[in-house]
Amino acid sequence: VKDGNGVKGLVDSGITKVPERFIQPPSERIEKVVQSSKDHFASVPIDLSKLDGPDHDQVVEAIVRAAETLGFFQVINHGVSFDLLESLKNAAQRFFAQPADAKAVYLKRVSPSPFVKYGTSFAPEQEKALEWKDFVSMVYTNDGDAQQHWPKVCKEEALEYLKLSSKMVRRLLEILIGNLGVTLDDSRLESLIGNKIVNMNFYPICPNPELTVGVGRHSDMSILTVLLQDNVGGLYVKLEEEILDGRKEEWMEIPPIPGALVINAGDSLQILSNGRYKSAEHGVRTTSKKSRISIPVFNLPRPTEKIGPLPHVAEVDGGAVYREVMFQEYMSNHVGHAHEGKKSLDFVKVKAN
Ligand code: SIN
Ligand code: FE2
Repeated sequence: VKDGNGVKGLVDSGITKVPERFIQPPSERIEKVVQSSKDHFASVPIDLSKLDGPDHDQVVEAIVRAAETLGFFQVINHGVSFDLLESLKNAAQRFFAQPADAKAVYLKRVSPSPFVKYGTSFAPEQEKALEWKDFVSMVYTNDGDAQQHWPKVCKEEALEYLKLSSKMVRRLLEILIGNLGVTLDDSRLESLIGNKIVNMNFYPICPNPELTVGVGRHSDMSILTVLLQDNVGGLYVKLEEEILDGRKEEWMEIPPIPGALVINAGDSLQILSNGRYKSAEHGVRTTSKKSRISIPVFNLPRPTEKIGPLPHVAEVDGGAVYREVMFQEYMSNHVGHAHEGKKSLDFVKVKAN
């Protein structure tokens, strides 16, 4: 995995068994999978164009309910054309299809910019077992500095996509904050989602899918994550205890829907809402049949933005369950650890005494 061609390089070399360092302990595999019911918002997308018509209230209700329960939902008529979604996936395919040398220039220690990084697995130095995934991560900066270094093979598509999806994210955030009985001014809303990271993930086929994960169980540190996935499937959400109602751990697939985008609440939104919105634990299973592409955009608070429960919400709830923290502190803690479920939130949890 050090040669700059990642897991893809291993697979292309013809291995028939996954190397030891990718084998997950049983507790980290995503195994108990349940079917989503046909009318569930995990598999029936919310039509955002209806926000501008007579069904406005029902659409708001669906968004809020999804964020409060599963923490995941899918949307259509989100403002990004089908063609651009296709171009974006093709751009990601192009990036990973390049020869090893072209990708290796973005490896962490040599990348021309701290804002562009190519690698394998999430936090290889911390992980007991590696994730079966290669990625390129591109941070957006307002001054345009970072984008200069984005890989040319995928830059244009990623920037265009970012521009269009950001409008939708802003609208969703306003809806979710409004539902809490809070109005935030434009500059605060912008600061909460003004820090953007585009990831392109490549999950090669895996000879032993039952032993590996594409991404280990984790929650995102974002306010909202917007994910484009291809038609292969593999993204699973862990059901929250309230939904499980005493049953053991269960995972539900967020199935691919052509033209749809997947939205999930991240830790920052859970913190801001004092726990009302769920930053769901999720992960990716591997398959032996077909490689998979996914492109999440993380809409994050600006690094110096303080995040903590909104005072009005904490007051109504009778106390803040999270302490306030500067986002960059939260981020350092999050990226400094291997994926470990929702453990990242412990960093700000107020302990009951
Ligand atoms: C992630 O949550 O890190 C990736 C999700 C996906 O590839 O579907
Ligand atoms: Fe994630």
